[in-house]
Amino acid sequence: MSDTAKLELEGKTLELPIITGSEGEKAIDIRQLRANTGFVTLDNGFMNSGSCESAITFLNGEKGILRYRGYPIEQLADSSSFVEVAYLLTYGNLPTQEQLNTLDQKIKNIKQLPEGLLQLIQTFPKDAHPMGAISSAMVALSAYHPELEKSDMTAEEMDNALPLLMGYTKLILGAFYRHAQGKAPLESSDEKDYASDFLNLMFNGPGANITPAVAKALDVLLILHADHEQNCSASTVRVVGSGQANIFASIASGINALWGKLHGGANQAVLEMLQEIQENGGDYKLYLAKAKDKNDPFRLMGFGHRVYKNFDPRAKIIKKACNTVLEQLGVEDPLLDIAKGLEEEALKDEYFVKRNLYPNVDFYSGIIYRALGIPTNLFTGMFVLGRLPGWMAQWRELRETPGTKISRPRQIYTGSNERDYRPISER
Ligand code: SDX
Repeated sequence: MSDTAKLELEGKTLELPIITGSEGEKAIDIRQLRANTGFVTLDNGFMNSGSCESAITFLNGEKGILRYRGYPIEQLADSSSFVEVAYLLTYGNLPTQEQLNTLDQKIKNIKQLPEGLLQLIQTFPKDAHPMGAISSAMVALSAYHPELEKSDMTAEEMDNALPLLMGYTKLILGAFYRHAQGKAPLESSDEKDYASDFLNLMFNGPGANITPAVAKALDVLLILHADHEQNCSASTVRVVGSGQANIFASIASGINALWGKLHGGANQAVLEMLQEIQENGGDYKLYLAKAKDKNDPFRLMGFGHRVYKNFDPRAKIIKKACNTVLEQLGVEDPLLDIAKGLEEEALKDEYFVKRNLYPNVDFYSGIIYRALGIPTNLFTGMFVLGRLPGWMAQWRELRETPGTKISRPRQIYTGSNERDYRPISER
């Protein structure tokens, strides 16, 4: 198989190198295209364009494969922990017990938010959407860590930034949730694992039902959300990081990108859609018809994916976990039956089958978050908690890759041709 692609252009033949990845994926390297031809490529939504070479996460959308640093997501969900996965994504290999304990303890050492940040969170209206507070708090952290508010962090500073932001993010979510409830924020506990500590930061108090099984269910959800190669928010983190913006600004940009309902905001939109179906007598076939109607902007939230043209492996795991978690919690949630009915009908429907539209990570996750007592408007914040180590691993890989250039796509101009300015009296 030739390792170049031939491009016939205006009577000339250009040979473009072909790059092959470790899983056999192939790319045409167009880095010299414009210099040699004056042409650029155009690719709405970057559906056919690779932005980088990365060793962190591998997806095969046709086969429904997801691996972090080569480890299948199914095995990590079964046997690993969120903190161990954060280490794996960042450093490329599973940690020794000592390495895991060190990262875990560094996260546990982050006991509280800076006082000024707590005050910032408390200035938000109690009914504000949490994502605005989470994003603001993340970028505001740069004011409290000038030692990391820099464009060229050393490896050691990046080592310290991971536990710092993992520790802070669960404190930010907990503090905002309790602020919205009119309660004082709590401090992290040294005695609890990451998921248990987060649940405690949220729900501590009478009636808090934080069992090991509940914490384990949340830990698995965080593992499943930890990274997903060059999705919209990870790409945003890379674009902002490529301009040498600091880690807080870069991660805050990822949080903002995730808020969109076509991306991380979908988990909240799914729950709201299921509730609307329930309020309308549970007639999910009506919503399938709306989703297929080209004149109706409604989309079946939690369905479809840019990469997966098969089942999202995370959705399979979460769907299975739904039954277990609801049983353990003794929760009967009619929305789960509506979701299952919706999925069953969609997967038989020619419109969805033809377009390879399957449930994605967001379709069932909200059922579990709801069972855990997480408010719907905090579901996307939960996605932030899970995705944080993945964003940071992507940012670090970008910053440690020699020759990384600032992201600056080109365009094809379609506006007015040159024309002369005319005084307002002549217009
Ligand atoms: C996440 O990229 C990632 O990895 C993201 C993520 C991660 O972990 O980071 O996996 C997390 O964001 C998951 C996706 C969450 N979003 C949703 O559930 C929102 C609903 N889904 C869609 O809007 C859509 O499927 C996207 C945004 C996810 C993907 O959109 P694409 O790849 O741009 O596909 P498209 O919009 O061009 O759709 C192709 C066709 C169109 O129909 P035709 O023009 O061919 O007739 O499929 C249709 C679309 O109308 N379609 C849907 C649909 N999704 C696609 N029709 C109805 N309902 C849907 N959900």
